[in-house]
Amino acid sequence: MTWRVDVITLFPEAIGGYASTSVLGRARERGSWALRTFDPREATDDVHRTVDDTPYGGGAGMVLLADPIVRTVEAHPDLVRPLIALTPSGRPFDDAWARELATGPGVTLLCGRYEGFDQRALDLVADEEMSVGDFVLAGGELAALCVIEAVVRLLPGALGNDASPAEETFADGLLEYPQYTKPATYRGREVPEVLRSGDHAAIARWRRAQALARTLERRPDLIARRGGLRDEERRLLAAHGLLAGLDTNG
Ligand code: ADE
Repeated sequence: MTWRVDVITLFPEAIGGYASTSVLGRARERGSWALRTFDPREATDDVHRTVDDTPYGGGAGMVLLADPIVRTVEAHPDLVRPLIALTPSGRPFDDAWARELATGPGVTLLCGRYEGFDQRALDLVADEEMSVGDFVLAGGELAALCVIEAVVRLLPGALGNDASPAEETFADGLLEYPQYTKPATYRGREVPEVLRSGDHAAIARWRRAQALARTLERRPDLIARRGGLRDEERRLLAAHGLLAGLDTNG
């Protein structure tokens, strides 16, 4: 089944350009997903095709008018749901949300520009608001592309293989273990011996220990979220000499 993405944006060419390249472009050619874009400027009828105005109450910048957005949504009753508005004030996007979207029919992404949306546009048309991080972009387009790419690579067959997304970073709440490829020695740095041993059980244990140690060091919040370290995980880290010096209280 084709996963559908509808994007409401004042810059459809920015979305269409990136969506035609690399992984996204190939997956689209294969029919894994389909893109439509809708420009709210098309839903204006003044000569200047105005889409924004100054904020009531004063302050810097311009605010997107409600009407072009509401009319765009009304003119296209077949927009796929949910309709998610991209704003820095939304619920944080993560791997779990990407997986949830990947199991549905698709998503409509509403991109802002300027200082934001007239609140009534969000109240009238958006099912939810989403943020891609605690920083402010000049518009929602890059955020929309993040969402599209994160979901499309989870779709069956989109990457040309079905196995990998399940076991990578975040699938089990951990960061990924370090990866190596040829040559075995590069600028005096060796690939860890165990990875060349052919002992698949030992390799799996080493990778899991590395993933745990990395996550403890870089993202203790992720360890805390899964309820701290289990005894078996503590033993695994100790067996690989990775327990000392790490904060394992999380
Ligand atoms: N628009 C501007 N900044 C954003 C962010 N951090 N996430 C989603 N949409 C945005």
